Formats: sequence, C-alpha cells, structure tokens
Amino acid sequence: MKKRVLSGIRATGRLHVGNYLGAVKGMLELQSDPDYETLYMVADLHTVTTPYKVDELRINRNEVIVDYLAAGLDPEKSIIFRQADVKEHAELAFYFASVVSIARMQHLPTFKDKVKQYPKDSTIALLNYPILMSSDILLYKAGLVPVGIDQEPHLEVAREIARKMNDLYGTDFPEPKRFATKGEYVPSLKGEGKMGKSVEGSYINLTDTVDEVRKKVRSMPTATEAGGEMTGGVKALFAFANLFIPDNMEEYHDEFEAGNLRFSDMKDAVAAAISEELRPLQEKRKELEADRAYLDKVMKEGAERAREIASKTVQEVKEKMGLG
Ligand code: TRP
Repeated sequence: MKKRVLSGIRATGRLHVGNYLGAVKGMLELQSDPDYETLYMVADLHTVTTPYKVDELRINRNEVIVDYLAAGLDPEKSIIFRQADVKEHAELAFYFASVVSIARMQHLPTFKDKVKQYPKDSTIALLNYPILMSSDILLYKAGLVPVGIDQEPHLEVAREIARKMNDLYGTDFPEPKRFATKGEYVPSLKGEGKMGKSVEGSYINLTDTVDEVRKKVRSMPTATEAGGEMTGGVKALFAFANLFIPDNMEEYHDEFEAGNLRFSDMKDAVAAAISEELRPLQEKRKELEADRAYLDKVMKEGAERAREIASKTVQEVKEKMGLG
C-alpha cells in the first residue's frame, strides 16, 4: 500500500509566500512522487477556532483551493478538498479528545500564543485545535505531513494520540512525521517572528502585483548603514535573498561585511525574484477564476474521495471503542 500524506492550510485569507514555501512546495514535491498518495485540504474548521467573519470564510475556503490549483496541486494526482465537507474530521476529533488531558493542551506554546493574541476569545475550539489537526492526519492514517516547522508541537500531539489510541484500543495509527522544505521558516517582512496572516504587514500574498511586492520588500526595516551586527529586518532580508536568489548570497555577505551593501538594490533584486516566481501562479489563477464549474467539480470529487477513506477509519475506531 502507498504511504499517505496529508496537509492543510487554514482558510484565513489568500495564501502567502510563507504558506507557499513552507507547505505548498512540500505538497508539490510529494504529489509527484509515485510512492505516496497525497491528500490536501483547506482547514476551514480550524478557521473557526479564532474570531472570524462568516462572509470572509465563505469566500476564503474556496480561494485557498484556487491558490492550491494555481500553485500546481493537481486533482489527477492528489485528493483536494475542504475539511468541513468531510464530517468525519470533527467526529474523530471528538473521540480523540477522550484520550487527551486539558493540561496537555493548555501548555502548548501555540495555544498560549493565541490566548495572548485573543485574550477574550480563548474557546474550547481553540484548546481543541491540535486534536482536530491530529484527526485530520490520522483519519487517513497519513505518516507524512508537509508543514512549516512551527507545527512541530502539533505533530507531537498527533503522535501521542496515535500511540494512546493504539495502546488503549488496538488501532493501527502511524506516528506522523513532518516533511520539511527549504522554506520551512519564512520570516515576517517586519523583521520579527514569522510571516503569518494574523500579523498585518508581515506577508506577501501569492496574488500580489509586481508593484505591491516591491513596495512591501522596500518597506522592510533595514539598518541605514551596512556592516556590524544584523538587525531583525536585515536578517529577514538575507533570509529572503537566500530563498529566492541564493546565487547572490556570497556577494551580499561580502558587501555587508565591507560596509558597502546597498539595501535598496538588494531589496529590488529580491522583490523581482519573488514576482518572477509568482507570475506563472498568477496566470494560472486567472484561468481558474474563469471556470467556477471546474472548481466546484474538483471540490465535490475531492470530498467524495476523502470521505471514502475517512468513513472507514471512523467506523473502525467506533467499533474498537465500543461504539460500533
Ligand atoms: N495548523 C496548520 C497551520 O496552521 C493547519 C492545519 C490544520 C494542518 N490541519 C492540518 C496542517 C493537518 C497539516 C495537517 O499551518
């Protein structure tokens, strides 16, 4: 049997360069490897774990699919679907919740960060976030998960749940591992932390125009003079250069050391390289936007194929837990 891969991205907006390098590139690589069966979803259920707008979610859960297809995810090779279209995700998460302690969830750094960000909206759904993510993965018995490095604590939870379920109920869940890519950590444009949709001004969308990309990269906080200790903004700019124009790195480092690096030139070179990489995706996106019927068909068929696998796992778990 082929090994399964599952990954997902929250439906909080259009995809950005951080999602693309950290997750989508890994998804693409595994999709074209005949040793794997790949499932890629939009994590729309996860979106409701923090405050959101109904109208926006309704749009974004489809737009992420468009971004996926524009980036090259292929329904002929992968099962592409929206999480909420497969009710088994929520169901299995409930069964899993019975083997996880409240304290374990409360101590996760990802949970603590979100509580800090939304002090008045720390809901049970948010506490359950890692359990739902474990359900996403284990529902398909996926052993490999292409995601950014920040998701490692959640994968640890998935492994714990797999072990616990196997010990207690005799299921055969694998312990999922992360599939890392070169862009597993993409810094924020602001020079502090990672690129993320929840921080305004930190990200470049895959749909950003050449002018928008240039403007955003130019606005990165870099020291006015080169040389000396690198600030967060300078480090971030170097990280982008390393991701998009690795051949120039030696030169940039030398110039930085010598104190004659021109940040504005470096920024424009980085911005141009990013736009160059995004152009084919943007062209493909335009074609897709004109064919909504095709999108609907992809989502419908993807959900059906996912459900076929998911319902078997849930039935098996229910039986083993005494509920079947
Ligand atoms: N938590 C992931 C993120 O923020 C999104 C996600 C939800 C996910 N379910 C998943 C990723 C299952 C991989 C597998 O990036």
